[in-house]
Amino acid sequence: MSLNYLIVQIARWSCDPPSRGISLATGRKWKENRQFTIKALARLGVADRSVESRIVREVDSLLSVMATVDSHLFNPAVICSCIANVMCDIIFGRRYAHDDPEMMKYVAEMQEGFVLMAHLGILNFLPALRHLPMTRKPLARLNVTKAAAHSFFANHVREHMATFDPENIRDFIDTYLEEARKRAQVDANCNLLEDDYVLHLVGDLFGSGFVTTAHTIIWGLLYMSRHGDVQRRVQAEIGEQIGEGRAPNLADMSELPYTVAVVHEVLRFKTVAPLGVPHANTKDLVVRGYHIPKGTFIMPLLHAVHHSEMHWKNPTEFDPTNFLDSDGRLKIPSAFMPFSSGKRICPGGQLAMYETFLFLASILQRFTVTLPEGAPVPDLIGKLGVTLAPPTFDLLITAR
Ligand code: HEM
Repeated sequence: MSLNYLIVQIARWSCDPPSRGISLATGRKWKENRQFTIKALARLGVADRSVESRIVREVDSLLSVMATVDSHLFNPAVICSCIANVMCDIIFGRRYAHDDPEMMKYVAEMQEGFVLMAHLGILNFLPALRHLPMTRKPLARLNVTKAAAHSFFANHVREHMATFDPENIRDFIDTYLEEARKRAQVDANCNLLEDDYVLHLVGDLFGSGFVTTAHTIIWGLLYMSRHGDVQRRVQAEIGEQIGEGRAPNLADMSELPYTVAVVHEVLRFKTVAPLGVPHANTKDLVVRGYHIPKGTFIMPLLHAVHHSEMHWKNPTEFDPTNFLDSDGRLKIPSAFMPFSSGKRICPGGQLAMYETFLFLASILQRFTVTLPEGAPVPDLIGKLGVTLAPPTFDLLITAR
């Protein structure tokens, strides 16, 4: 087979009828979209860690908000805007002010969409229920939030198409436009630039990447406020290895095993994607004597794996030492799978780790977080949507 033939074949696959985005796509289109996304994220700084500067900019903006908080009561929900901004920077090359009305509306709608999706999960089993008023209304609302998100993305795509410069690739959308143009050169029928492929891809990336990570960081702060001993140990480690003269960076991760273990323990203990994403088996299977016919709807219960006594010594306790060996070095048990496992494992896991580490380490270097005295203890169970959302709560923050 000649190289040219192969290139034309690849281009033809790329222009198949839409199986859009990644999360809900299957087959060849999923594979291509996924490979493209992994390469693009690597190129935009996940591989060489230069993405750090995009994260640090948001950490700094959060720390300046925290430094000016009146009466020292701080609502960590603002972290959602910070993480949304990291994604905006990677995808569109821009950030928004925390109180920007467009951004606030979009962040709220995205979170609402996640809750609606979980409520409508029953339609996966019983699609006919979509005609009932109890599902018709949320379904209509979900479509409104999706349309709003797509129009937000479409504005950015139009702007990028008008200003595209192949010599200056700025972000994920530029990387996509560059790839689409390359493919159009080998296949005149390639329609990647004309339809809404990119909107679905960007929607998946944004949707999967921002709520999950923001919720993990907020859970992390809540557990730090509940476990003063763990918080003090993190602060002591940061004090010994970094001191006060500079902020933590990604190169410090190897010198801060306890802090990194805390990040892992938050991801285990409050598994923010507790039900993973639904899968289906591509052939008949027998598992422990049960026959599972091809095409069965399978929910991977990641929360159950993370709370099984088979794998963890005290699964119901928040205990960062789950991730340390007897010499205090980082150890990652094979049952740790917040990003799932296998061919569809989350392609943003590394980025999420970087963000969670930089936010938690930088906040705890500068502040001690506690729950205000006398305030009711926040609900530690969380609200189950597509993610396990933390409750709304205030933290008392004290500069160190
Ligand atoms: C704490 C943060 C995160 C958690 C816990 C998380 C978790 C997950 C899980 C459990 C899946 C399902 C995998 C499967 O189908 O078995 C997934 C898929 C996915 N995640 Fe993440 N994720 C996080 C952050 C991110 C970030 C930052 C990005 C983007 C940069 C991202 C992009 C995606 C995409 C595109 C998929 C679909 C993959 C596919 O179907 O091939 N995620 N994630």
